[in-house]
Amino acid sequence: MSTTQAQKIVLAARPLGKPRLADFRLEETTIPAPGPGQVLLRVQYLSLDPYMRGRMDDRESYAPPTPVGGVMPGESVATVIATRHPGYSKGDTVLAGTGWCTHTLSDRGDLRKLDPAVAPVTTGLGVLGMPGFTAYGGLRVIGKPAPGETVVVAAASGPVGSLVGQLAKIAGATAVGIAGGPEKCAFLKDALGFDAAVDHKAVDFAARLKEACPKGIDVYYENVGGAVWQAGLPLLNEFARAPVSGLIAHYNASGLDDSPNLLPATMRAILSKSIMVRGFINYEFDAAHFAPFLREVGAGIADGRIRYREDFVDGLEKAPEAFIGMLEGRNFGKLIVRVDNPLE
Ligand SMILES: NC(=O)c1ccc[n+]([C@@H]2O[C@H](COP(=O)([O-])OP(=O)(O)OC[C@H]3O[C@@H](n4cnc5c(N)ncnc54)[C@H](OP(=O)(O)O)[C@@H]3O)[C@@H](O)[C@H]2O)c1
Repeated sequence: MSTTQAQKIVLAARPLGKPRLADFRLEETTIPAPGPGQVLLRVQYLSLDPYMRGRMDDRESYAPPTPVGGVMPGESVATVIATRHPGYSKGDTVLAGTGWCTHTLSDRGDLRKLDPAVAPVTTGLGVLGMPGFTAYGGLRVIGKPAPGETVVVAAASGPVGSLVGQLAKIAGATAVGIAGGPEKCAFLKDALGFDAAVDHKAVDFAARLKEACPKGIDVYYENVGGAVWQAGLPLLNEFARAPVSGLIAHYNASGLDDSPNLLPATMRAILSKSIMVRGFINYEFDAAHFAPFLREVGAGIADGRIRYREDFVDGLEKAPEAFIGMLEGRNFGKLIVRVDNPLE
């Protein structure tokens, strides 16, 4: 076993509002040796996801906060480089909750093995992984679009939104995507086949969204909140469904939120139009949905009906900057860190 150093990125301080680079710290450690029942993993690709912002805060949530000084949480595609676990061989490629690091030990028997012959392994972090399952579950279990209905989703060029729109099209619905800037909007229509794309940065965004939804909105897949919810709310049809997947516009809010109070208008619409609003976290969907998800979306990727875009950043040390940028829309597609790691 090499004695060369491993690297990890820890939470240095809890951010107030937008995270800063100083809220993260790169640390070096010795590469550990696996004990009985353990594998040593070398991270190839680290996923950066919006939920990680929530873990940086010490407030009540569906998952405990990362302690100050603790490794930033995250999922990776990793290689087993040493093993004392009977279920894994050296060279296996697995999906694992490694956190932001180059190497880690795992004693879990439930690492998901990835077969590069089936799909590029990075898809396990995006379209064929947690974000993809979020899109699939939220749309199929809660949104339930019918042919001819209108589905609206924001953050639509990312791994969740892009699959929501494409699955809506496959269900025979009209897909309207919301994204930041003309390049992302063009991608939604030209590469992903959305029927319309609306730039939320446009000064007349609400009017453009209304124009793009002449028959109103039947499924509003909520990824963002804030001004996007405000623009979509008056367009919701009777019996509309709103799966609430994420609220990224609010993740950096420091508590002094001066955005308008939409509660009365929201509750009035829910009551008067019999709207169903339901929040969810992807893992609550029945595990029975996961195999059909992999089969269906995997087949769609293989035959070209489902497309995805990945945005790579090189080097673990670049993860904080890339993560901060994602919260402001600087990523274009599923954000992945190619962990620079020549060690074996
Ligand atoms: N419930 C669950 O289990 C679950 C699981 C995974 C993800 N999610 C949620 O799904 C959403 C999308 O996640 P993702 O992984 O696919 O991320 P992503 O789309 O790759 O990245 C986040 C995107 O959010 C958009 N955004 C940021 N601030 C915004 C604002 N104020 N207004 C409008 N758009 C804004 C940006 O895109 P633009 O440049 O287009 O604005 C940014 O690129 C997030 O809210 C996330 O928390 C939920």
